[in-house]
Amino acid sequence: MKVPYLDLPAQFADNREVREAIEEVLRTGQFVLGPAMERFERAFAELCEVKYGVAVANGTDAIFLALKVLGVGEGDEVITVPNTFLSTVGAIVQAGAVPRLVDVAEDYNIDIEKIEAAVTSMTRAIVPVHLTGNPARMDEINDIARRHNLSVVEDAAQSVDAAVGDRKTGSLGDLGAFSLHPLKNLNTIGDGGVITTDSEDLHGKLLLWRNHGLKNRDEAAFFAVNSRLDSIKAAVACLQIPGIGKVTEKRNRFARIYDEELAGLAPKVVIPPRREGVRQVFHTYVVQIEERERLIEYLAERGIGTKVHYPIPIHLMEAGHSLGYRRGDFPVAEAQAGKILSLPVHQHLEEAQVRYAAGCLRRFYGG
Ligand SMILES: Cc1ncc(COP(=O)(O)O)c(C=O)c1O
Repeated sequence: MKVPYLDLPAQFADNREVREAIEEVLRTGQFVLGPAMERFERAFAELCEVKYGVAVANGTDAIFLALKVLGVGEGDEVITVPNTFLSTVGAIVQAGAVPRLVDVAEDYNIDIEKIEAAVTSMTRAIVPVHLTGNPARMDEINDIARRHNLSVVEDAAQSVDAAVGDRKTGSLGDLGAFSLHPLKNLNTIGDGGVITTDSEDLHGKLLLWRNHGLKNRDEAAFFAVNSRLDSIKAAVACLQIPGIGKVTEKRNRFARIYDEELAGLAPKVVIPPRREGVRQVFHTYVVQIEERERLIEYLAERGIGTKVHYPIPIHLMEAGHSLGYRRGDFPVAEAQAGKILSLPVHQHLEEAQVRYAAGCLRRFYGG
């Protein structure tokens, strides 16, 4: 049996709806901005239960633009984590600010006990990352932000449709930044991103910032960037919205199967943490394990694809050297980086494939 880590052709090849949506855009000739993009923005805002969605070129720009409309720039510091996809930190650097990293907790998300020690007079914002599709502790983060007069930008690239109580990620901070990259739970046929907010003021600024600062066809209010989402990609992303609940449901079902099958292997295999009242969406199903390299090979020999998200914490990457941290500064994230493994959990799998993958893992550990 094969259990591929991903199966993008299963989603897009021979998809009649996608072809029709693309053809519709081709018929209108409105390839940039226009009705397809606006339809997507409205539908995405509704999904996240916020007033506004602003479609942009990718998830990295979504974080960058969210910071820019908050006024973040040179001389400012922005708090985030070292175990995220590198672009969370890259976007902060691109915005002109200094990233201040804070270690994570056992749930892979920012350790709320360690945030305040990183706040200085220059701190302007916190960017919590809902890593793996598991919401960060937003109540506590918002409390800290309020106490220190900071803004909060959720990096929700991995957490579309996740929720804390009945509130979706993307509605929990001042702004939410999402990616529509093909690997994401809600995606499109290439790069894409979207920003959510309830603020009319920030929404207005985002519309300018993603479109050269243009107030109208001929006049710009300030110099900005071109980060528009192509209409074709917006139309395809829009098609995914009605089905996202089913995607979440399927990933959760597979996650439960892994939980049940692997729970007995602790402490050799540590399954993902759960939190009461939180809906995770399992963008990745991450276990911590011993003997990772040997296990990856063992599973690959049995047709099972795995990945590591992410093997090198950002402060230990070459790009991260400029941040001024050293090995040992973030012991939890560093220890996790050596043990984490993402198992296949995507919605194009069948239950039998998940049980087979879990069974192989159990056999490896003699369980
Ligand atoms: C946590 C996180 N932040 C930011 C991004 C950046 O998104 P994009 O690749 O669309 O620029 C990604 C995805 O790649 C991500 O997983």
